[in-house]
This record gives sequence, C-alpha cells and structure tokens, in this order.
Amino acid sequence: MRATAIAQPNIALIKYWGKRNITRNLPAVGSISITLRDLFTTMTVQLDPDLAGDVLYVNDERDDGMLPRISACLDEVIGSRRMHARVNSTCNFPIAAGLASSASAFAATTVAAAGAADLKLDTQRLAALAGRASGSAARSLYGGFVELANNGDDIEMTALCDADSWPLTVVVAVTQSAPKAVGSSEAMEISRKTSPFYANWVERQPEDLSIARNAILARDFKQLATIAEHNCLKMHSVMWASRPPMMFWNAATMACLQKVRKLQGEGCSVFFTIDAGPQVKAVCLPEDAEAVRVALAATPGVTEVLVSGLGAAARLVDPQ
Ligand code: DP6
Repeated sequence: MRATAIAQPNIALIKYWGKRNITRNLPAVGSISITLRDLFTTMTVQLDPDLAGDVLYVNDERDDGMLPRISACLDEVIGSRRMHARVNSTCNFPIAAGLASSASAFAATTVAAAGAADLKLDTQRLAALAGRASGSAARSLYGGFVELANNGDDIEMTALCDADSWPLTVVVAVTQSAPKAVGSSEAMEISRKTSPFYANWVERQPEDLSIARNAILARDFKQLATIAEHNCLKMHSVMWASRPPMMFWNAATMACLQKVRKLQGEGCSVFFTIDAGPQVKAVCLPEDAEAVRVALAATPGVTEVLVSGLGAAARLVDPQ
C-alpha cells in the first residue's frame, strides 16, 4: 500500500510539441530524448483507506495546485475506485521552469502508484500511463537515449542506446527559476490552432527523428548537434509565430546560445537545446563539460549552472 519511486527528468533532442488527441494526451509527433542522472524527483504514494481525499506534499509543503493532475495519474494507473492517497514528492531542481520537472514527477508517480497497488505492469505500459499525465513523462521510464513513436492509438517506446554506451554530459544554465507563465499543454494547443508553421512542423518531424536516431546509433556527435539545434529552433519558431506569440526566452537565454556558438568555434563538442522555458541545456562530450560549465556560469543573467550525466530509468526504491 506504500511505495517510493525515483525518476530523472529527460531532455528532448527532437521535441514533442503538439497533441493529436487531447483526451488521451497523445502527441502529434514522435520525439527523442536523453534521461538525466543527477536531477531527480522522488515520489512516495501511500494508499490509505482512512483518507477523505488525496493529499500532495512537494518538498514538505502542501501543493493543491498540482494535486488534480497527480490524482488523475493515480486514477489512470490504479483505477478511479482506488483508495485515496498521501503523496510526498521531493525534487532537487527548480520546478515548472522548463526543466522537465513534470516528466520526472509523473514518471515517478506512475511507478510508485503501480508499486503501492501491487500492479505488475511492463515498462511500455507504465510509459503509456505516464504519458497520459504528461507526454514527456513516458520517456523517463527509460534511461539513456529514448525514442517515443506514435503507433496507431498509442505510443511505442524504444531504448536507442543506454547511458553508459554514450555518456554525454548536460550543462543546464538556469536563467530564471520562477514557474513559467503558460503551461505546455495550453501553449501546444495555441500553436496547433494558430501557428502558420505548425503543419510543416508535424510533417517534417519524421525526417528529423530519422537523422537523430541514425546519429545516436552511429555515436555521431556533430550530426546529432546539427539536427537537435535545428529541431529546437524550429519548435521555437512555431511558438513565436503563434497567436498570441509564445516567447519563453530572455536576454540570458540568447547570451547562452551565443556562448555555445563561441565554444563550438573554439573546437568544443557542444550543442544547445531549449524547452518551454528560458533555461539553456548544453549537451556536450564529457571532456568538454568543464569548459562549457565555466563559460555558461560566467554568462550575464545565468543564476545557476547544473551539471548532469545521463542516467537510468524510473524505478522503485523501496518496494513494500
Ligand atoms: C517543450 O510533456 O510538459 O519540453 O503532455 O502537455 O504535459 P504535456 O506536455 P509536456 O511537454 C514537453 C514539451 C517540451 C518538449 C519535449 O520535452 O519533448
């Protein structure tokens, strides 16, 4: 009746932006991501027949804002006729600022809920359930390099390469730690309905996925860098051209991109990617990580720099 799971966020290199089915939260496009190692969320789900309703604590503080999505996730995994739950979450990085905190939160909730209810579900099934709560969460059910593909009425996950087989480093430049103004779900719908670039974005995604997949399988850093930057900037172009426009960047975001370009010019194996927030994630070869960390930390407007290797799948930590 009680289980704790740990999950790490993942960073998309080929992005998910847009939904093909809102009710089932199915993505319009496939995506490819890397699961991190050093940023994490733990979730304890305690099913309790004496509770009158679900309760959620995040870093020891009651969080009623996030509770409906967590309750819905528990309903998906356990069934809506379940016992109420006390859910405790801890997270060692800024929440809801474009650092994929929802991915690790819902991946961990799904695994902990299945553990608490003693359900034996395979990883594909857990990923599908996590994906209903948050599309990107499905990818944190796997470690290393992960592909999420659309398959009929469902999603299909493939582990492309584990973390040890290509141990890249991710340097996250935090430029603002406040939660973002518009949530991803809402922002995606605005793009789908209003961006003149949206249809092209969806149409061309298989091409980007194929290039990135081949680059990962061949461990071709340059090719991965080029397609990941292109796909990221294309997603942001879709957002910028939406009505109202959605611009998640600030001046420091742009300064970090310029810094990454400078590092590339100096021979560093590094590329950038940015999600629905102002933080910049610089992906690099481990031997260049220190130079990238120092350069981004010295960039005006960067408040914090987090460094992570690539890590493993969401998992139970104290099954009982
Ligand atoms: C820009 O997974 O947060 O980070 O399914 O609506 O919860 P919902 O969206 P979410 O969106 C992630 C968008 C992104 C790109 C990505 O991670 O692929």
